[in-house]
Amino acid sequence: MSEQEIIVVIGATGAQGGGLVRAILADSGGRFAARGITRNQGSDKAKTLTELGAEMVQADLDDVESLTTALAGCHGAFCVTNFWEHFSPEKETQQAANLAQAAKNAGVRHVIWSTMEDTRNWVPLDDDRMPTLMGNYKVPHSDAKGAANQTFIDLGVPTTFLLTSFYWENFIYFGMGPQKGPDGVYGITFPMGDKKMPGIASEDIGRCAFGIFKQGDALIGKTVGIAGEHLTGAEMAAALGEALGLEVRYNDVPPEVYRGFDFPGAEDLGNMFQFFRDFNDDFCAARSIEQSRELNPALQTLAGWLAEHTEQIPIE
Ligand SMILES: NC(=O)c1ccc[n+]([C@@H]2O[C@H](COP(=O)([O-])OP(=O)(O)OC[C@H]3O[C@@H](n4cnc5c(N)ncnc54)[C@H](OP(=O)(O)O)[C@@H]3O)[C@@H](O)[C@H]2O)c1
Repeated sequence: MSEQEIIVVIGATGAQGGGLVRAILADSGGRFAARGITRNQGSDKAKTLTELGAEMVQADLDDVESLTTALAGCHGAFCVTNFWEHFSPEKETQQAANLAQAAKNAGVRHVIWSTMEDTRNWVPLDDDRMPTLMGNYKVPHSDAKGAANQTFIDLGVPTTFLLTSFYWENFIYFGMGPQKGPDGVYGITFPMGDKKMPGIASEDIGRCAFGIFKQGDALIGKTVGIAGEHLTGAEMAAALGEALGLEVRYNDVPPEVYRGFDFPGAEDLGNMFQFFRDFNDDFCAARSIEQSRELNPALQTLAGWLAEHTEQIPIE
């Protein structure tokens, strides 16, 4: 029988959790073993993780009993929710509460909750510098995660609160890569002015989470913010241009213009980028590159990430 302690990884087939499963498996013979959670053990991603050596277990964030069963006997649990699958902050709140309850039921000794700021602590709902969305939020996908921190605290779950950063994979999958402008020059567009945005390779989120589990008790009850680099729009454009061998410019647009773009979630992201811009000192200070590298010595810069991923960036 294995002497290893089990880390249950929610979202194992996704970006954040996948990075953690791979980090645990790469440390074969180490302290931890990986139990990945999926709704569909037959998916290609789940089967790949099984082949790599993870135990894959079926559970659903909407079903607290399935989560409690999945967490039984584990040492730690990495908890993440996927707002972009349903666009409902109330559903995200309920799923986070289910995770916290299941962790309490199962007596998990160390939970990492992948969270973000509740921006309403900086921009109250009656502050009209940005519109209130969905009745009760400024940045729905961020506020719901930040507000859920308290649920883990209230239930007495030993939790590390992991503040994540903008994935550089958004240049591949989220439609944020360089787009050709009317003059034929490519550009990336953010309402960030000349402020810096903390960014990270999504794989490094899981690797940092692995570092947190290894540090253990010292980080329970603490908030840990992670980033690979803090870069301005102009610096990101320059790195993309260098990697792609193209001129890429940074288009700074006002947040209200960004909110009006024609894609699902544009208002949410417009408010998010405005929050990053207007509270930039707080937002960046909460995400230490130095601590991220201590947790994960393989932490990538944007240029380092681009060296491996430039070919995946869609250029039309
Ligand atoms: N994009 C960014 O820049 C960024 C930055 C910071 C934070 N985030 C946050 O990251 C979160 C998404 O994480 P990700 O990018 O790692 O996800 P992802 O790659 O889109 O994958 C989603 C994962 O969630 C699992 N999942 C979704 N609904 C589930 C349910 N009901 N029950 C069980 N598992 C469920 C999926 O598992 P199965 O499909 O296998 O069941 C899958 O593993 C979002 O909430 C987003 O706000 C994103």
